[in-house]
Amino acid sequence: MIENTPKLFIPGPTEVDDRVRLMMAQRVIGHRTSEMSDLYGGIVEKLQKFFNTKHYAMVFTSSGSGVMEGTIRNLAERYVLHGACGAFSKRWYEMSLANGKDADLVWADWGKAVKPEMIGEAMDKKKYELLAQIHNETSTGVRNPTDEIAKIAHENGTLIAIDTVSSLGGDMINIDNYDVVIASSQKALALPPGLAVAFVSEDAMERSKNMQNKGYYFDFVRMLNRFNKSQQHPTTPAVPLLYAMDAQLDLMLKEGLQARYERHLKMRDIVHRWVKKRGFELFAEKGYESVTVTTVKNTLGISVKNLNNELIKRGMMLSNGYGELKEKTFRIAHMGQIQPGDILALLDSIDEILEAKGVY
Ligand SMILES: Cc1ncc(COP(=O)(O)O)c(C=O)c1O
Repeated sequence: MIENTPKLFIPGPTEVDDRVRLMMAQRVIGHRTSEMSDLYGGIVEKLQKFFNTKHYAMVFTSSGSGVMEGTIRNLAERYVLHGACGAFSKRWYEMSLANGKDADLVWADWGKAVKPEMIGEAMDKKKYELLAQIHNETSTGVRNPTDEIAKIAHENGTLIAIDTVSSLGGDMINIDNYDVVIASSQKALALPPGLAVAFVSEDAMERSKNMQNKGYYFDFVRMLNRFNKSQQHPTTPAVPLLYAMDAQLDLMLKEGLQARYERHLKMRDIVHRWVKKRGFELFAEKGYESVTVTTVKNTLGISVKNLNNELIKRGMMLSNGYGELKEKTFRIAHMGQIQPGDILALLDSIDEILEAKGVY
């Protein structure tokens, strides 16, 4: 039994509301029952309603990476372009290579955003079937201008999929501007890990229909056919996680998309003000800062590891920098069900710890 765990200010998994968490204790139902059809049918409807889209909504039992890989296989026989600016978007490119695709990388440096003209330039040189573009790069706290990038992709006759793993449910995403929008449950959607969401356009579905060697588990067409037949999954889904998702979507609908976005903006602004006041700096390029996670440049040279150990004693936890950025940066997630008051309490605790150490 795991006890006394800290409140999570890490960019996933994030805090799960008790009302949502407890739904998972309900009795398991069969996956071929009318109760299951009601549950999954309801979830799909709520996803489309909350995110204001007519795209097909699908929930897979896997983490987000499963659908990221599946998207490449559904939409590209060969040529994929990746717009990347950090660890997770680079990994998506590696997935394309691992699936034998002829993949190219447009790379913006660490902390920088992928600009539309960079994508335009690559597309002038070569024809791509799919652009796989990061929206919110969790390692650097960069938010990419994906609406403008989508326009360029479509002008070039290229489908665009975006990774909103750490932004969907916190940031404002215009789903209908993209062909596939992918998210994981354990980030701004504030659910336990184990589910992935995909919104799929009609054009993407058409492409998938004729795609060879696209695999089985993440086949969009297979998912849709089964859903149209019975509002169920082709295979056995993680039933308790679906109970949780259903309840979480009710909470989100009650809050509303705009209010949820504004709460995230408010939390982000609180963190930004604190960063500047204390003499730290933002790692993300100006104008491209994430709404859901702030990567802080460790300009005061603190030990992030020690800070986190002290925070954990107080029942809170943030994230060290990712990979090469460890100790050079740290990350404060302000996403999901976390409230502005929680962020203020975290920052007060950081101040107390750093003041006691004589950092400021
Ligand atoms: C931007 C981004 N993409 C992809 C992933 C991988 O998602 P998952 O761990 O749900 O497979 C993560 C995980 O942190 C992420 O932050």
